[in-house]
Amino acid sequence: MGRRNRAPSSVCPVLLCFLLYISFVSEPSNAQSLPAFACNVAGNNSLAGFGFCNTKIKIESRVADLVGRLTLQEKIKFLGSSGNGASRLGIPTYEWWAEALHGVSFIGPATRFSKLVPSATCFPQVILTAASFNVSLFKAIGKAVSTEARAMYNVGLAGLTYWSPNVNIFRDPRWGRGQETPGEDPTLSSKYAVAYVKGLQETDGGDPNRLKVGACCKHSTAYDLEKWKGVSRYTFNAVVTQQDLDDTYNPPFKSCVIDGNVACIMCSYNQVNGKPTCADPGLLSGLIRGQWKLNGYIVSDCDSLGILYGAQHYTKTPEEAAAKSILAGLDLNCGSFLGNHTENAVKKGMIKEADINKAISNNFATLMRLGFFDGNPKNQPYGSLGPKDVCTAEHQELAAETARQGIVLLKNVAGSLPLSPSAIKTLAVIGPNANVTKTMIGNYEGVACKYTTPLQGLERTVLTTKYHRGCNNVTCVAADLVSATALAASADVTVLVMGADQSIEKETLDRIDLNLPGKQQELVTQVAKAAKGPVVLVIMSGGGFDITFAKNDEKIKSIMWVGYPGEAGGLAIADVIFGRHNPSGNLPMTWYPQSYVEKVPMTNMNMRPDKLSGYPGRTYRFYTGETVYAFGHGLSYSNFSHQLLKAPKLVSLNLEESHACLSSSECQSLDAFGPHCDNNAVGGRLDFEVQLKVTNAGDREGSHTVFLFTTPPEVHGSPVKHLLGFEKVRLRKSEEAMVRFKVNVCKDLSVVDEIGTRKIALGHHLLHVGSLKHSLNITV
Ligand SMILES: *[C@@H]1O[C@H](CO)[C@@H](O)[C@H](O)[C@H]1NC(C)=O
Ligand SMILES: *[C@@H]1O[C@H](CO)[C@@H](O)[C@H](O)[C@H]1NC(C)=O
Ligand SMILES: *[C@@H]1O[C@H](CO)[C@@H](O)[C@H](O)[C@H]1NC(C)=O
Ligand SMILES: *[C@@H]1O[C@H](CO)[C@@H](O)[C@H](O)[C@H]1NC(C)=O
Ligand SMILES: *[C@@H]1O[C@H](CO)[C@@H](O)[C@H](O)[C@H]1NC(C)=O
Ligand SMILES: *[C@@H]1O[C@H](CO)[C@@H](O)[C@H](O)[C@H]1NC(C)=O
Repeated sequence: MGRRNRAPSSVCPVLLCFLLYISFVSEPSNAQSLPAFACNVAGNNSLAGFGFCNTKIKIESRVADLVGRLTLQEKIKFLGSSGNGASRLGIPTYEWWAEALHGVSFIGPATRFSKLVPSATCFPQVILTAASFNVSLFKAIGKAVSTEARAMYNVGLAGLTYWSPNVNIFRDPRWGRGQETPGEDPTLSSKYAVAYVKGLQETDGGDPNRLKVGACCKHSTAYDLEKWKGVSRYTFNAVVTQQDLDDTYNPPFKSCVIDGNVACIMCSYNQVNGKPTCADPGLLSGLIRGQWKLNGYIVSDCDSLGILYGAQHYTKTPEEAAAKSILAGLDLNCGSFLGNHTENAVKKGMIKEADINKAISNNFATLMRLGFFDGNPKNQPYGSLGPKDVCTAEHQELAAETARQGIVLLKNVAGSLPLSPSAIKTLAVIGPNANVTKTMIGNYEGVACKYTTPLQGLERTVLTTKYHRGCNNVTCVAADLVSATALAASADVTVLVMGADQSIEKETLDRIDLNLPGKQQELVTQVAKAAKGPVVLVIMSGGGFDITFAKNDEKIKSIMWVGYPGEAGGLAIADVIFGRHNPSGNLPMTWYPQSYVEKVPMTNMNMRPDKLSGYPGRTYRFYTGETVYAFGHGLSYSNFSHQLLKAPKLVSLNLEESHACLSSSECQSLDAFGPHCDNNAVGGRLDFEVQLKVTNAGDREGSHTVFLFTTPPEVHGSPVKHLLGFEKVRLRKSEEAMVRFKVNVCKDLSVVDEIGTRKIALGHHLLHVGSLKHSLNITV
């Protein structure tokens, strides 16, 4: 998603945007305004005669009725995210652009905070939530956010359509927007996306024709570069193989549509293989609406049509850009480009009115599912929600709980953590992130209900805390080593809270290295050297850092990564440090050494390594080099053991007699579809279960994520390891649990070949859970 004020063809200069922002936040008014809605039959009985207002007939019929009543000029207005509406039909402007990445955000013109609703619950930034690997939690957050969104809509402060979540793969640690995503793994990203979308969208009745609010999975596709060494997302041409598209970049979007029933997909700014995604018929009409069968609308990123014309020079005229994108399958434009140029495109014969009808029908159908055409929302489901339902104690506790579940304990020498509060007379709390508020909520944020900073969280438990920032801010141009080391030397325990904020990594800003910014490393090292007692290093950031120096520093007993932990981050950090919560988060992305980014240009989209050029590949699925901390790493105060109870050693596929693989000894793989993959035809034998027993062998209750990885035979550049599934369990001391994974040979054990075809590799597949390994032979 783009923020219009950041686009090169800026329609909102920085100062103006700043003033707009200030006026949103600091000119609160008590006036309760009505939400926008159409078909106010109770207020104007003549509207009752319109078919589109008739809630008793099917949505398609209502949409057809509405489209039939509109003039061409009115229709064109409905291609835009703002300034639409048809007052002669009782349809007010509907503002489409709102954001709810991890709470209702003030970004986008549809939402604002006022005295009536001054704030909304700010959950942790998505990358930390993902680290919880808890799918029911992902959905619970979505549900809380949609309740707050509906409550704000009812008092005229928010819309019904939210352009969240961001499910691009976090393929490079420098990416400024990695923080917004669920990490580097397609399986986790897909599960996160589906659960969060369902949490936002699903109504209590579960009717797929109704939406609580509309979600949007973005940015399709292969978008994950902001601005790196002069390369900008607005003009970047991502050169991507079909194989990488199919097995890395597209799966989260596919899951959003097929499993999540998401109401919207947003196309991205960048080009993929020379085509701007918002004007690519193969992507929009072929894949998203055709193969995946999107039930909803496709929206452009903000100003991306202006960009594909003006900055990418993909078309000669703006009319051609308008026509190409609509013909490609775009339904809605964030901004005014289609509103300005579509009429001339029709006049020039580049598109027909019927093409516009198709696009706006998708937009109207979505608004119908949201109840926008059903009259006063007060009389509809969720109509009773209001300010009292925002920032509830329950939602704020869920924000704290999410941070607890996500925090990753990276290092803990000899059980140094948890700390026992009674043994601490003075606690030194040092670092530029030790007492931050806004930093904790990352980007695409709202106004928090209230904050608990790390220092405030720790102060609640320990009587004497002494605080020093160490550096002015995270850029740490200069460090006050004298004061910081003196403090650490006088305290029983030292907690350092370091890392990043939006000045280091954000939308439009990628990092260029993986070192802690400025003099942070020096500060950490000197403080550790001077410290009287154990040192706990807390890293607050979206992306990972090369903290090898701290990993190897004997004085630094423990290291925690806390993402951007949300409004209640300080509570969660203290709960983990003092053992009121047993950490159970696992890294959703690889932490690479600095040498990695020196070898790998951000612009190289290839996931797979290349031996010839020395390119090391990306993410745990392909990169086999040294890591600082690996994908999935995360310690507990307890320990857990796994025992394999059931898994097949051999699965043979039944091929038709004519199949070439039966007569050839060189057959390494076969299609993961066709009669041999029809599970009903082969009596269900393609499905099997992997059963494990998990035991809490430590002496504390805790949660533990069981990761089931597979290593396929080496064919078609298959991944070295791939996450087949994960399951989180909560176990008391000595308690055991059974964990079952349902596996389908064709669906779950297949790989994508060089031209994008799913194949089952024949031979030995290795299943791993922790140090457990099991070999499964697939034969014909
Ligand atoms: C009632 O709705 C009709 C149809 O949209 C419109 O022509 C008329 O002006 C409306 N009346 C009032 C009082 O708003
Ligand atoms: C559309 O036209 C309006 C009015 O002329 C102008 O302010 C706006 O910048 C235009 N938008 C685009 C994307 O060209
Ligand atoms: C910590 O931050 C909070 C919130 O901004 C502030 O009220 C408090 O004074 C700060 N504490 C110290 C010791 O600076
Ligand atoms: C960080 O502090 C430095 C001075 O130490 C200052 O120049 C810079 O503007 C600050 N950065 C931010 C984002 O506030
Ligand atoms: C698991 O934890 C218990 C108690 O904390 C400890 O005695 C045992 O050695 C640990 N086992 C392993 C394999 O780490
Ligand atoms: C997942 O999150 C939910 C909601 O907070 C919680 O009730 C549950 O215990 C968590 N699951 C595990 C295994 O920790």
